[in-house]
Amino acid sequence: MKSTGNITPLRLLTLYEVSRKINSQLNLARLLNEIMDQAIVLLHAEKGLILLRDEPGAELAVRVARAMDKQAVGDAASISRSVIDKVEKSDEPVLIQKIPDLQGAEASKSMVMYKLKSIICVPLHSKEELIGAIYLDTTQSERFFKEEDVAFLEAFANLAGIAIANARTYQEIEHLNANLEQKVAERTAELHLKNQELIEAYQKLRDAQLQLIRQEKMASLGQLAAGVAHEINNPLGSLHSNMDMFTRGFEKVKTALDDSDALSHSASEQKLRQTLDMLQQLSTTSQAACQRISEVVKALRNFARLDEEEFKAVNLHEGIDNSLVLLEPKYRERIRVIKEYGNLPSYRCQAAQINQVFMNLIANACEAIPQGKEGRIHIKTAVENDTICIAIGDNGVGITAENLPRIFDPGFTTKGVKVGTGLGLSICYQIVQDHGGVIQANSEAGQGSVFTIRLPLQEGSG
Ligand SMILES: Nc1ncnc2c1ncn2[C@@H]1O[C@H](COP(=O)(O)OP(=O)(O)OP(=O)(O)O)[C@@H](O)[C@H]1O
Ligand SMILES: [Mg+2]
Repeated sequence: MKSTGNITPLRLLTLYEVSRKINSQLNLARLLNEIMDQAIVLLHAEKGLILLRDEPGAELAVRVARAMDKQAVGDAASISRSVIDKVEKSDEPVLIQKIPDLQGAEASKSMVMYKLKSIICVPLHSKEELIGAIYLDTTQSERFFKEEDVAFLEAFANLAGIAIANARTYQEIEHLNANLEQKVAERTAELHLKNQELIEAYQKLRDAQLQLIRQEKMASLGQLAAGVAHEINNPLGSLHSNMDMFTRGFEKVKTALDDSDALSHSASEQKLRQTLDMLQQLSTTSQAACQRISEVVKALRNFARLDEEEFKAVNLHEGIDNSLVLLEPKYRERIRVIKEYGNLPSYRCQAAQINQVFMNLIANACEAIPQGKEGRIHIKTAVENDTICIAIGDNGVGITAENLPRIFDPGFTTKGVKVGTGLGLSICYQIVQDHGGVIQANSEAGQGSVFTIRLPLQEGSG
């Protein structure tokens, strides 16, 4: 920093005031205007320029050009460029007091051309490095710059240099800040997008996986069901005809016995009659067993529906009944099934899949009712507002409020890993959704549950 030895106390005070003013300005453009105006006023100049170097090694370029009345100077070139060059090269102030008194060549062309009377130009520094210059001149007044003005303007330039460096740093920080904010915003947006893509990809993968499991489960179940039905069907046929023949033969033996006198009232006749009664009893139970086997085989075939096209209009009640036949061992003698069937139109659907839904829901209901409890499964069907509603309710253990939102998640089970796969309800959800319907669960722990399927009525169904 240069000495301020030649400055009067009054001017020092002025400098102090001015430095407070310019130091509070952090906007570089406004700061330069402020410095320029102050310099012109303080030194009674008529025109002033501030030149700055944008980066180390660059040329000094005019950044502000102002006249006494604070107006921008129209022709910023009406200055003595040689004076500025000299300041830049020497890094020293230049004072030309009375240009009109200069001898011939001492006055440069521009001094003569622009009728300059007096010029003062001092370097601007930041950390001892030349960053620019303050240039002032007069053209009309009889006021010429003096020696003491140089010291004063140098002191002022020192303060201005610090203020300019501060404002530049502030500007750079602001710029970095804005850049940083923009970068953060861009990165956040990118991350958000990637996240979204990831969620979608995960969703797709999960759906595909579920679809695969479902298809595999359905296919193997269907094949198994059809295979078992086929295998049972043949021996069942012979069993049926044998039972017929047995009954007829039995009747014949009984009639022959009734007609015969030889054995009448003897002890051996009594014994024979008892044996015949037992055989008749056995024949009745065997016939009932055959009947039950036929039902199961029919239900298995209907359930699998392997021989049918994918979409077919079916009686949904038949599907429910088939599932009940197949699940009978799960509820027989311990759970009462109450059917409250409404008047449903035939429904065009992937019957094997819809049957799978009934099967899973009824199986869950059976499993929810603990052994020893008087169980009840209530199946109600109806058409409500263009929708087929099928509600399957039970008086089982119910579902806790904590578990309720998770029961349709694939893999969620409370039955232990080896008992349940936790896929039943997620498969139901998917199948119902594929049919444009919804499935909903209402339950309270300890009170039982109701699962309601709503399927949209199709045009022309009936
Ligand atoms: N009717 C119901 N009553 C009480 N809880 C039920 C009922 N239905 C389903 N849940 C609960 O929802 C869970 C998920 O059922 P889901 O049918 O998907 O799988 P799971 O029955 O456990 O296994 P899987 O069906 O593969 O045998 C069950 O473990 C059970 O906790
Ligand atoms: Mg289940």
